[in-house]
Amino acid sequence: MTIMKKLSTAAAAASVAALAFAAPAYAKNFKIAVGDSGGSSQEATGLGFVKALEELSGGKHTATLFLNGQLGSEQDTVNDAAIGTLDMSLLAINNITPFSPSVGVFTLPYVILSLEDAETLTQGPIGQELTENTINDAGVRIIAWTYTGFRRLTNSKKPVTSVADLEGLVIRVPKNEIMIDTYKAWGISPTPMAWSETFAGLQTKVVDGQDNPYTTINAMKFYEVQKYVTNIRYIFSIEPLIISESVFQELSAEDQNIVLEAGKAATAASAQFLRDKEAEIKQILLDKGMQIDDPENGEQEFIDLATAAVWPKFYESIGGVDKLNAVLAAIGRDPVSE
Ligand code: MLT
Repeated sequence: MTIMKKLSTAAAAASVAALAFAAPAYAKNFKIAVGDSGGSSQEATGLGFVKALEELSGGKHTATLFLNGQLGSEQDTVNDAAIGTLDMSLLAINNITPFSPSVGVFTLPYVILSLEDAETLTQGPIGQELTENTINDAGVRIIAWTYTGFRRLTNSKKPVTSVADLEGLVIRVPKNEIMIDTYKAWGISPTPMAWSETFAGLQTKVVDGQDNPYTTINAMKFYEVQKYVTNIRYIFSIEPLIISESVFQELSAEDQNIVLEAGKAATAASAQFLRDKEAEIKQILLDKGMQIDDPENGEQEFIDLATAAVWPKFYESIGGVDKLNAVLAAIGRDPVSE
């Protein structure tokens, strides 16, 4: 082999090596923090996303789920994604509200009254506006919505069917002002605690109870440390999949589109999971020995106390009473006046 041929072979090998080295920058394995364990609605959304991402990218991109808060508390993952040290996170919307207060409109008690309401709001112009707000406020972009169902109250001490029954119970809530004030409206002062610490808090009886949907109660095995469930429906739990905005902006336009389309598929997978599984999971909780009670009088006293005290207090942080009225109008409900 001549010197020239040797050099050009070496150059070709070097450029192939350079290409191989560059390839991983384009073929991503997104790291996704997931607050809940396997079997949860969050996992259903995550798996839906991974499947669609792999299909839409022809196998170029994938994503890995890190379940059960392995990558930190849900609120910490928002910070990590904001600074770009984490690609994505799947978490309850109440854990984004401290960073982007306008999304609190989805956490106001008794605003969202069904899965259909949740789908209408998240997939329409209001969901789009809140997505833009989280980019500007928190440096994260919502790319999919998990629909987890109504947050039900659980506790280890006694059946609760009225507001008066709450007396004496120490209830864990997320570090979320709207949820803290809702329990205050019901006459007790709840204990704010990170989600990642909640099972241990219930097990060691630092707290007596908490609220989360059936699918979450089951996935987190709360039936091992909680006996009583009250079917309140004060918040319909919505749990977005967020991507770090800086990570998103590093993607090509084509890859951004793939990620957004995979997000839509993940949202659909989540709605399907809830429709298919919620009744079955409620039965599992009964079979595990939980007692499920309905609140008295169709929950009216819970509704009246919470809406009267909490809604007006948060008009300003959600962007004004008009924002709440836009949400109510979108789901066919009457407006409120200031
Ligand atoms: C919370 O209670 O902090 C969240 O709803 C937990 C979750 O992500 O399921």
